[in-house]
Amino acid sequence: MNMQTMLAMQAQQALARQSGDYVSKDVDEQAHIDEIMAAGGLSHVYRFDIGKNTDGVTPLIRGVLSLPETAENVTRNMVEYPDNHFRQLRRQIAMRHGINPAHMAFGAGLESIIDQICRAVLEPDDEVLFPVPNFSVFEDMSSRAGAAVIPVSTSPPNHRWTAATVARICEVMRRRNPKLIWISNPVNPTGQLLPLATIREICEQAERTGTLVAVDEAYGEYTDHEDAVVSATRYLEEYPHLMVLRTFSKMYALPSARVGYVMCAAQELIQAVNAFRPTFPLPWSSIQMAQIAIMDDPYVCQCRGRNLRRRNRLLPELQSIPGIQALSTDTNTVMFRHEDVSGGSLHEKLSNRGFLTANLNGVTGIEGSGFLRMTMRSSYENGLFVRTLREVANA
Ligand SMILES: Cc1ncc(COP(=O)(O)O)c(C=O)c1O
Repeated sequence: MNMQTMLAMQAQQALARQSGDYVSKDVDEQAHIDEIMAAGGLSHVYRFDIGKNTDGVTPLIRGVLSLPETAENVTRNMVEYPDNHFRQLRRQIAMRHGINPAHMAFGAGLESIIDQICRAVLEPDDEVLFPVPNFSVFEDMSSRAGAAVIPVSTSPPNHRWTAATVARICEVMRRRNPKLIWISNPVNPTGQLLPLATIREICEQAERTGTLVAVDEAYGEYTDHEDAVVSATRYLEEYPHLMVLRTFSKMYALPSARVGYVMCAAQELIQAVNAFRPTFPLPWSSIQMAQIAIMDDPYVCQCRGRNLRRRNRLLPELQSIPGIQALSTDTNTVMFRHEDVSGGSLHEKLSNRGFLTANLNGVTGIEGSGFLRMTMRSSYENGLFVRTLREVANA
């Protein structure tokens, strides 16, 4: 039997249309790391490739896990189905953003939420606007739902959004009436924070063209203020077609908990997104971890401050390496390239020395530009990275 013919048309299309992401479901990451270590005789591999907070979780989580009653608590709760309404976490998030607790849907990480949104709103032949470079999962999930993805480019060399980018987006919206626009803010992979006024301008245009606006603030905690979120959630009531996404995977350093959520004032939209979730998307343990993590504002502030200090030191160091162009960033990740060395070659040379980076060579909008992305780690490890990059870049 030809298995290919057993696949639904949508599955066949999804397989044919995978974008050039730097994380592949087909690659066994641990096996790849083992290979690098064996080949280079390395005792350690530094993961500069994953965009999460490398300082780890709040000490509050460690504290709770080490309490004597925790074992009993875990044993009691793991034998039950988890709360499928996430009541306490919902209240905590609603309070933080000053929104109605009903205006929220939860999923197993934002990847699941992005998938659910695509399945809830997109139909074959819908058009989706995709300013690039951007988070490639938006592109994959949208085309998997049958929609045509329209990239809107930003300009080299630094690919920052400018007034011209916003004007171009609004012009394409006027001309094509897309069903949905995907924005990451701060932008992944550039790390640029877009002003909220820009999001508002796009929402205004989207209202006129009947376009849904999804703003993914996965890295939002890196650009929040000490006493308040800096989030498009302030516009939710004004623009019911606006969805704002956040996750516990990045600043809260809980990627394994898989807790993501979308906030939106249109109840029909929240219900539709929920319709595509499993009944119990979040395990009890994940809900607990998120509830604890979100309580520790001082830790988040501390990580944000530390990140800023590291960035102020790292960027000039990277930029001082002959041939290296490093882009300014508002988050914990930095995009960089070498003028003369290809991205693939630089990526491989760094990997061989035990320094993993995200290879952005296949990312829409910057294909073949040789960009890599690194996630900041401790000052010591960043120093090792710079030293190694200097060596391999000029070898
Ligand atoms: C912009 C953006 N959105 C969503 C995600 C995925 O987050 P989660 O771990 O919640 O699925 C990432 C992770 O890389 C991201 O960069």
